[in-house]
Amino acid sequence: MKSIHIDLGKDSYDIHIENGLLDRAGEYVRNLTKSQTLAVISDTTVDGLYGDRLEQALRKEHYNVRRIVFPAGEKYKCAETLLQLYQELSDAGITRSDYIITFGGGVVGDLGGFAAATFLRGVPFIQIPTTIIAQVDSSVGGKVGIDLPSGKNQAGSFYQPKGVLIDPELLRTLPLRFIHDGMGEVIKYGCIHDEELFALLEALDDETISGHWEDIIGRCCEAKGRIVERDVLDLGERMLLNFGHTIGHAIERCYGYGYYTHGEGVAAGMAMLTGVTEHMGLTEAGTTERLCKVLRRYGLPTDVQASADDLLRYIGNDKKKRGNRMTLIILKAIGQSELLPVMADELPKYIRKGE
Ligand SMILES: NC(=O)c1ccc[n+]([C@@H]2O[C@H](COP(=O)([O-])OP(=O)(O)OC[C@H]3O[C@@H](n4cnc5c(N)ncnc54)[C@H](O)[C@@H]3O)[C@@H](O)[C@H]2O)c1
Ligand SMILES: [Zn+2]
Repeated sequence: MKSIHIDLGKDSYDIHIENGLLDRAGEYVRNLTKSQTLAVISDTTVDGLYGDRLEQALRKEHYNVRRIVFPAGEKYKCAETLLQLYQELSDAGITRSDYIITFGGGVVGDLGGFAAATFLRGVPFIQIPTTIIAQVDSSVGGKVGIDLPSGKNQAGSFYQPKGVLIDPELLRTLPLRFIHDGMGEVIKYGCIHDEELFALLEALDDETISGHWEDIIGRCCEAKGRIVERDVLDLGERMLLNFGHTIGHAIERCYGYGYYTHGEGVAAGMAMLTGVTEHMGLTEAGTTERLCKVLRRYGLPTDVQASADDLLRYIGNDKKKRGNRMTLIILKAIGQSELLPVMADELPKYIRKGE
């Protein structure tokens, strides 16, 4: 069992990571709240696989459990689903002294977390993330929200959970494409913050990694937690988490969302940018080769067909651009990252490379 304390003053919380934790979720929730009623928000896939088990675990602690389920998929992370959630929370008689549990991937965490943040001006909530993306990224840091027709994650807020319960065994049912998608972010943490994690990933592969999830997820949460503690509102250091994302987002947009997964876009983005900065002498020699090798090991791309011009077209409206300055995140070496402010007109220098 691994526990990580996220120190955010009155908004502090703990992340617990343990194989089999799902069946003991009731005890952990009981330590956090004396309330009687819990609303568990989930999607159809996760509810179908694990909803009964979670309900049983919670009922052992005599909770009234109300399961609220919406269809799986990013397209349901929208205002219409949010309104339905409000209605169901209201029908269930949820009050501010009850708790909401978000049980699923990043979609459930973001949407359910935003419902928790805004229903009755805020109901406390607990995250039980079930994908790698959710276990290492979206459940930590307090960003919740929904997509709008005008763009992804365009309505949202910062709302910290009261706790995060991670059971790595739930990843056994996650399809390989989503595993690889999440590995894009896992490798990113190794790159920006944790060389030991990176070295561990170099030594494992798709088969052998499953015995190491507790350690790996713990290291990622630790990395994200420490960075978020120093920059809750994403005004400075938290930008390090965007390594690979400027080009990655451009790749996702250029091909249309869904062609490359987010993790695939980030993977190619990290490899391409590091190729450029290594060539410029800003990154230790040999870093790109190490990075590309590990990305390929987990089925991730190190390059895409799109030209520099194609990609630049989709970087123009990236939110990291402020005025005509932007901040790129680059590696000095594996495990060491830094912010590099660049003028927007210098950006073309940093786009491309790759093999
Ligand atoms: N809030 C943040 O800081 C943050 C960070 C990263 C990503 N996100 C958001 O997270 C979302 C992506 O997260 P995601 O990849 O987890 O998407 P997701 O929630 O759509 O999950 C992916 C798919 O896996 C299924 N699934 C979930 N757990 C499973 C399991 N254990 N076994 C089998 N199937 C399972 C889901 O039903 C879904 O079909 C995006 O909306 C993104 O914007 C938010
Ligand atoms: Zn990301």
